[in-house]
Amino acid sequence: KAGTSGEVTGSEHLRALLRPLDIQAHKGSQGRLLMVCGSWGMAGACVMAARAALRCGVGLLDIVCEERVYPLLAGAVPEAVFTVLDGPDRLFGSLKAANACVLGCGLGNGQESLIRQVLGCCPVPLVIDADGLNFCARTGFDLSALPVPHVITPHPGEAARLLGRSVAEIQAGRIPAALELAKLSDGPALLKGAATVTARPDGRFAINPTGNPGMAKGGSGDVLAGMIGAFLSQGAEPFEAARGAAYLHGLAGDRCRDRLSARGMLPTDLSSELLEIFKDFE
Ligand code: APR
Ligand code: MG
Repeated sequence: KAGTSGEVTGSEHLRALLRPLDIQAHKGSQGRLLMVCGSWGMAGACVMAARAALRCGVGLLDIVCEERVYPLLAGAVPEAVFTVLDGPDRLFGSLKAANACVLGCGLGNGQESLIRQVLGCCPVPLVIDADGLNFCARTGFDLSALPVPHVITPHPGEAARLLGRSVAEIQAGRIPAALELAKLSDGPALLKGAATVTARPDGRFAINPTGNPGMAKGGSGDVLAGMIGAFLSQGAEPFEAARGAAYLHGLAGDRCRDRLSARGMLPTDLSSELLEIFKDFE
C-alpha cells in the first residue's frame, strides 16, 4: 500500500534495546515501572507480566492492586512495592513516580473506574493490553487523545473489538489491520499472533520472525506486556520497545521449545529463558 514500508525485525533491533548497563547504575536509573494489572481470578496475569519486567532489568517495580489479591501477588513477586487501592490520590502518586505504566493484563471488566483514572491521568508512557483495550472498545475511549506515548498490544480478538470487525477479517489482512490500529490509537500498535506485526501511524511496520505455537497459551501475552513496559521504563522509543520486545519474547519462546517442547513449555518458562539470551548479549 502506498506510503507504507515494512521490514523484518532482527537481532540488531534487540541489541539496540539491550545497551550495556552503566557501572554507576542504581535502582533509580534502571527504570521504574508501574503495573495496573491482575484481579480476583486473574492475579496470575499480573505475576507473569511483573516477573517478565523484572527479568528485563527494571530497577523498581510498583504494582497497584485490589486488596484481596495483594497477599497472593506479594508472595509471588517479592521484588515489587505494592499500593493497595483506596482512592485516586494514591493511584496518581504511583503513576507520577513511575517512568512507564502497564495497564490491563488480567484486570477483568469490573474495574472501569480504575482504568478510566489511569487513562485520564497517567503522565508517563503506557502499554495498554487486554482489559485496558477491551475497556476502550466497549466505551469508545479515544486512544488517540492520550497525551502520553502509548503502545497497544491487541491479540486478534481484541483488535477485532477495537476495529469493529470479525477476527477472520483481522487475520485476513494482518498488516493493514495493524496499520489501522496504529492510526486509530495514534501510536504503535502490536498485533499479536504468529508473525506479530508492529505498526506505526506513519505507515512503517515490522514483522516479527520469532515465536512458535508453543506460545499459544494464556499468559504469553502478559509476559510480552511486561517486557515492553520494562523497555519503555528504561527510556526506549515506543515502537522500538514494542518490536524489540516481540522479537525477544519469540526468541525466548523458540529456545523454550527447543529445551522443553512446544507442547509442554509454559508462559512462565519464557521469563527464565530471558536469562540465557541476555548472557549472549552481555
Ligand atoms: N506463533 C507465535 N507466537 C504466538 C503464537 C504462534 N502460533 N501463538 C501465540 N503467540 C504469542 C502471541 O504473539 C502473543 O505474544 O503468544 C502471545 C499470546 O498473547 P495473548 O493472545 O494476549 O494471550 P494471553 O493474554 O497471554 O492469554 C489469553 O487473554 O483474551 C484473554 O480471555 C483471554 O484468557 C485469555 C487470555
Ligand atoms: Mg492477552
